[in-house]
Amino acid sequence: MVQLAPSILSADFSRLGEDVRKIEEGGAHLIHVDVMDGHFVPNISFGAVVMKSLAGKSGLPFDVHLMIENPDAYLEEFVTPQTEYITVHQEACTHLHRTLQHIRSTGVKAGVSINPATPLCMLEEVLEDVDLILIMSVNPGFGGQKMIPSVLHKIEQLVEIREERGLKFQIEIDGGVKTDNIAQVRAAGTDIIVAGSAVFGAEDIPGRVRELISIAEAE
Ligand code: DX5
Ligand code: ZN
Repeated sequence: MVQLAPSILSADFSRLGEDVRKIEEGGAHLIHVDVMDGHFVPNISFGAVVMKSLAGKSGLPFDVHLMIENPDAYLEEFVTPQTEYITVHQEACTHLHRTLQHIRSTGVKAGVSINPATPLCMLEEVLEDVDLILIMSVNPGFGGQKMIPSVLHKIEQLVEIREERGLKFQIEIDGGVKTDNIAQVRAAGTDIIVAGSAVFGAEDIPGRVRELISIAEAE
């Protein structure tokens, strides 16, 4: 089953609660929460206080994407009854295995992400310690960028590796997904698809969520 995780980075922050209800109405599966610190990425977004303001506003779980340095110092702030995944960047973690264990110790599923320029082999030693692998299809920092399609080969390779080794992690993609490329993204084997501007830039947000899911499900 394919899941859609709209990124609230592109939502209207003055009415975040309403926007989240709209994606739920359209049938979205997760709320993608993009946290940026102005150090790991060249932009600052929001932190746990904003995410927690959405507690109970919908039944959708939080899919937290930490684009921050030193995530160990902050990740527990994102652990709530609604938090399903916390994902850190391989490039930001000196002791990645320890950080992943730290996430799991909080009872939340552990994810790891790699930037477009980072090869898959950097995750080789932690494949058994993750519940989610998030492949960045743009250089992180901003919504509304164009997808770098060459990253899709990483998804295809992950599908093979997961099968060969009998592993169970979910495969997620993030960046530049639109109605005109979501079929290709799903066909590569992606389980969870993030979409920010494609969802919240639409006039009819629930309608766009339905449209993206139906194209992906047709693959
Ligand atoms: C990029 C973020 C993405 C981004 C997705 O740094 O991690 O989640 O907001 O937005 P779109 O779908 O507009 O590329
Ligand atoms: Zn993200």
